[in-house]
Amino acid sequence: MSGIRDFYWFLPTGGDGIYLGSGDGQRPATNRYLREIAEAVDRLGYDGVLLPTGRGCEDAWTIASSIVTHTERLRFLVAVRPGTVLPSEAARQASAFDRLSEGRLAVNVVVGGRPSELAGDGIFLNHDERYAQAHEFLRVWRALLAGERVDFNGAHYDLKAGHVPFPPVQEPHPPLYLGGSSPAAQALAGEQVDLYLTWGEPPAHVAEKIAGVRAEAAKHGRTVRFGIRLHLIVRETEAEAWAAAEKLISRLPDDVIAQAQHQQTVESDSVGQQRMSALHNGDRRKLEVSPNLWAGVGLVRGGAGTALVGDPQTVAERLREYTALGIDTVIASGFPHLEEAYRVAELLFPVLERERVATRALPPESPFLGGGSLSGVFNGRRLTAPRPN
Ligand SMILES: Cc1cc2nc3c(=O)[nH]c(=O)nc-3n(C[C@H](O)[C@H](O)[C@H](O)COP(=O)(O)O)c2cc1C
Repeated sequence: MSGIRDFYWFLPTGGDGIYLGSGDGQRPATNRYLREIAEAVDRLGYDGVLLPTGRGCEDAWTIASSIVTHTERLRFLVAVRPGTVLPSEAARQASAFDRLSEGRLAVNVVVGGRPSELAGDGIFLNHDERYAQAHEFLRVWRALLAGERVDFNGAHYDLKAGHVPFPPVQEPHPPLYLGGSSPAAQALAGEQVDLYLTWGEPPAHVAEKIAGVRAEAAKHGRTVRFGIRLHLIVRETEAEAWAAAEKLISRLPDDVIAQAQHQQTVESDSVGQQRMSALHNGDRRKLEVSPNLWAGVGLVRGGAGTALVGDPQTVAERLREYTALGIDTVIASGFPHLEEAYRVAELLFPVLERERVATRALPPESPFLGGGSLSGVFNGRRLTAPRPN
């Protein structure tokens, strides 16, 4: 039976707000605010939080380390760009954080998609070279965290007797996620990662990519899990949800859209970004690109550019279309992230939970009725990590 195994929220380390593309109601990504969100989602029954990486956001490891001790069960999915850090240092960071969090780390591998931004980090590799580097990075990273002594001589890395003496809690290493849509991304996912992430494209487009990754994984005798990263605008009625979507872009000037579209298409070599932008082509009049899938966020923001909009039953139904394809992980967000985390937990989680209870005839273990956690309801298996010695 397909279903949602992990439901993550997003930590807006680049800032938050009420309106897209407007200075009105902006919230800076202060540590206190991010901690507030993390503490709330920990309590509300989410399974984890995603922290992005890049020039436009605070450093993911630093923020995660400063917040994790304020949470009890949340997993931290920390984005890492191979190329900005050596694999040995990245392995030590992962090991240290996995120990600090008692086995609550997952790593999201992203190669980056804007050459002008990457140049600011001294990375001048083209798209496929970045993926070739990521292949080497992950081979070294995985071997080091598995406790091996590593001699490696590749096109991008050269190590002699590499070793990480402090092992991570999770064996052989914390789970690896990857976000990217190109054939190179799919090949890397098939060969080396545990869970492949797609942005919220229409189900048929997502199905194509899942098939591609499965075929790549089969070449290596592997299987890969799948997740989707999108925004959610859930309200008690459809009308309220669509009004909230409209409000989000109500102060978004056309010239800001034009500028953002230039960045996302001309300045980007990311296949995933091109696919996101092609859903709306910068046209604010045609934003429902598939039933209840609204591309308004992508008018101005790169990356995850779509939201499922609707009442709780409808959004649950749309999510079921993705889980039927093999998606078992949802990484959601909404503006502003604190209030929307509450809305999703209060309106959507009970519906998802009821479905799960109905399909599996298990007794309700509701966090809303006291006691249990949503993850206990969703997850066939929850990783209970041993304490490090
Ligand atoms: C779920 C998800 C999360 C991502 N997070 C980040 C991020 O935090 N930082 C970043 O630079 N890129 C991020 N990306 C984009 C990746 O950098 C990816 O390399 C980009 O889409 C270009 O690869 P592609 O041509 O294979 O699509 C993310 C992509 C996905 C799907």
